[in-house]
Amino acid sequence: MTPALQQEIQVTGKLFIGGEFRAAVSEKTFEVTNPARESHLMAVSEGAAADIDLAVKAAQKAFSEGPWPKMSAAERGRLLWKIGDLLLENADELARIETLNNGKPIFESRQIDLPAAAACFHYYAGWTTKIHGETIPVPGNFLNYTLREPLGVCGAIIPWNFPLLMAAWKLAPALATGNTVVLKPAEQTPLTALKLAEILRQAGLPAGVVNIVPGFGPTAGAALVQHPGVAKIAFTGSTEVGKQIMREASGTLKKLSLELGGKSPNIVFADADLDAAVRGAITGIFYGKGEVCMAGSRLLIEQSAHDAFMEKLVERASKMAIGDPLHPKTRIGALVSAAQMNKVLGYIDAGNREGARLVTGGERALVDGKGYFVKPAIFDGVANSMKIAREEIFGPVLATIEFRDLHDAIEQANQTMYGLAAAVWTRDIKKAHRAARALQAGTVWINNYNMLDAASPFGGYKMSGFGRELGQHALDLYTQVKSVWVDLSE
Ligand code: NAI
Ligand code: MG
Repeated sequence: MTPALQQEIQVTGKLFIGGEFRAAVSEKTFEVTNPARESHLMAVSEGAAADIDLAVKAAQKAFSEGPWPKMSAAERGRLLWKIGDLLLENADELARIETLNNGKPIFESRQIDLPAAAACFHYYAGWTTKIHGETIPVPGNFLNYTLREPLGVCGAIIPWNFPLLMAAWKLAPALATGNTVVLKPAEQTPLTALKLAEILRQAGLPAGVVNIVPGFGPTAGAALVQHPGVAKIAFTGSTEVGKQIMREASGTLKKLSLELGGKSPNIVFADADLDAAVRGAITGIFYGKGEVCMAGSRLLIEQSAHDAFMEKLVERASKMAIGDPLHPKTRIGALVSAAQMNKVLGYIDAGNREGARLVTGGERALVDGKGYFVKPAIFDGVANSMKIAREEIFGPVLATIEFRDLHDAIEQANQTMYGLAAAVWTRDIKKAHRAARALQAGTVWINNYNMLDAASPFGGYKMSGFGRELGQHALDLYTQVKSVWVDLSE
């Protein structure tokens, strides 16, 4: 880490509670690293149960007292819009911090993550004035109406793959609906969330409305899940931790929304525009180094197109630019940590042992002698029963599986415990829409991959979780309905 780069990271490495930056009660800190350089970036205060408790109390106070509950919906909307604007104004710096901390190419953090995070705040800014109850024609001399109310303090626990974007997905709808929030970023990547804290303050968000407590899962995360003052947990992360959170949340009957892992099928029919499908298969698995919940990690290819398709795919994958994540031409950055890299390399070993054919990549790469880089890997001759086809790898590893016809494709595609996303490539519109209906997934892409928008719902079927983030649907995750009965009799 050169001094020049270090200067670019102007982040207060402290907890953000009640509108102030403060050290952890324990005064402990933990190291945050740059995975491309295997170097120390900075020390960050390590929140734990005592800090979560302070944050929840600050959020409770902000929910019931002070300016936040008195603010009009329109004022709340203007505030959210301002946050979106400030994200765009600070996009260069935020993107650089994201890239230094996560290892993702600057192309992605600057061109995708930052605009998408800002768009999420702008989108929900428009909703604040459009959330309302109903009057219901009940029998008798009664007026019955409903109020749509916020839940209270919402806990958000987010992963390291899209640190700022995931914070935006949780905060924007929670704030639009009038809640207050305690956010626990992933221990690997707390920096952009802390920078966001500065932006929230600058935008004029009242103290305590959002509190940000970096720390580890089993301590800070678990304390948030168990806290009786928290009404809801919104979680994105592994299916394993999702299950654990569901168990733990039962103690206080918290509301939950879980966005978990995936093993998404990307289905290419022989009648597809094969060049477009090759590009889609590449983006599908290698975008974000494959550390993406909706990654198209299973490529299902129709037998008759297999050879031609694989030739193009392998050629393209082997040419992908691995490099310094800060370089604008880099397309494959460093995996987030040594642990994640080792996990991915372990799966590549497993694929080889199970008899799949590694046709390109799969080794560790170094950039200027350093970094947790893995060359984009493609396995051919994979069976759905193999470990590399069943388990979420969360890295740049594609498993290629052949199919005979539509029926076979759907059957194999759905043969997974997950159901986050799926894609179909074909020029036959009937086939495309039949497949869209039959696929057990929360998102289906036809002749594209990875498209998302703040206005369109996102979430999982089966063990990829429940609850829909983004769009109008997310408003349901952060509100509860009250029915009011008024006796009008004389
Ligand atoms: P993880 O699920 O352990 O971490 C995600 C978040 O949950 C982090 O903020 C973490 O601190 C928190 N957490 C962990 N244990 C917790 C607990 N007991 N109570 C409350 N919060 C807790 O994911 P991890 O270990 O970083 O990655 C392991 C694998 O999980 C990855 O290889 C990948 O397969 C999957 N994963 C999936 C993600 C997705 O978007 N679907 C995101 C991150 C990981
Ligand atoms: Mg974990």
